[in-house]
Amino acid sequence: MKKLYGIGIGPGDKELITMKGYRLIRECHVVFIPESNGESLAGRIAEDYIKDKKLVRLEFPMGDDNKENYIKASKVVEETLSDDEWGVFLTLGDPMVYSTFLYLMAELEKRHVETESIPGISSFTAAASRAKLPITLRGENFYLCDGDINEDILKTVNTICILKTTKNKEGILDTLERNSFKYVYVKRCTQGDEKILYTRDEILKDRDYISLIIGGREIND
Ligand SMILES: C[S@@+](CC[C@H](N)C(=O)[O-])C[C@H]1O[C@@H](n2cnc3c(N)ncnc32)[C@H](O)[C@@H]1O
Repeated sequence: MKKLYGIGIGPGDKELITMKGYRLIRECHVVFIPESNGESLAGRIAEDYIKDKKLVRLEFPMGDDNKENYIKASKVVEETLSDDEWGVFLTLGDPMVYSTFLYLMAELEKRHVETESIPGISSFTAAASRAKLPITLRGENFYLCDGDINEDILKTVNTICILKTTKNKEGILDTLERNSFKYVYVKRCTQGDEKILYTRDEILKDRDYISLIIGGREIND
């Protein structure tokens, strides 16, 4: 039966990939790579591992409603794989966290193509390590969201991480400040051009989509 593995390739450092993810990439018949306007960060992170593989690029333009693209991509996957062949789909961080693979998986299941997710190191756990900020201590709660903070939830947690910061960065910082949360901005975490920013002005000036904000009641105290 045809099968597609979603491989979490981690946040950027090519050594932050699991042994299982690496083995499946090396052994698969086809590597499917998500692209936005012809660019693929996932493809770049894994470039050393996929040089000699059969590559198929799937376009998912950033910011677009990709419903049609997920359907198209699932058709390409089904038509590319012969019976009993299997492929991998590279995904940034972990496939179960705000990833394209989740939508592709739903479309593939309609086509009776088997799917499996291989966990990866998510951007927010990697960023917590780089910034040396614990996400949770004993008895604490954590809130993960993508751009819009629900203030009722925020009031109940100790720590928050916001992905996709470019959607509403000023609003995010206002909400955090109003609720007495300190924050850190981590950009291109574990990649060559990683930056960790602490001040409101610096954070607002930066426009990189590959960035996140960690907020906490105790940060920088
Ligand atoms: C479509 S989501 C993918 C999340 C991914 N599946 C994960 O587990 O981290 C894209 C968002 O992930 C975050 N992200 C991914 N890699 C990152 C990195 N190396 N540094 C900072 N943020 C990153 C950014 O917030 C970006 O806007």
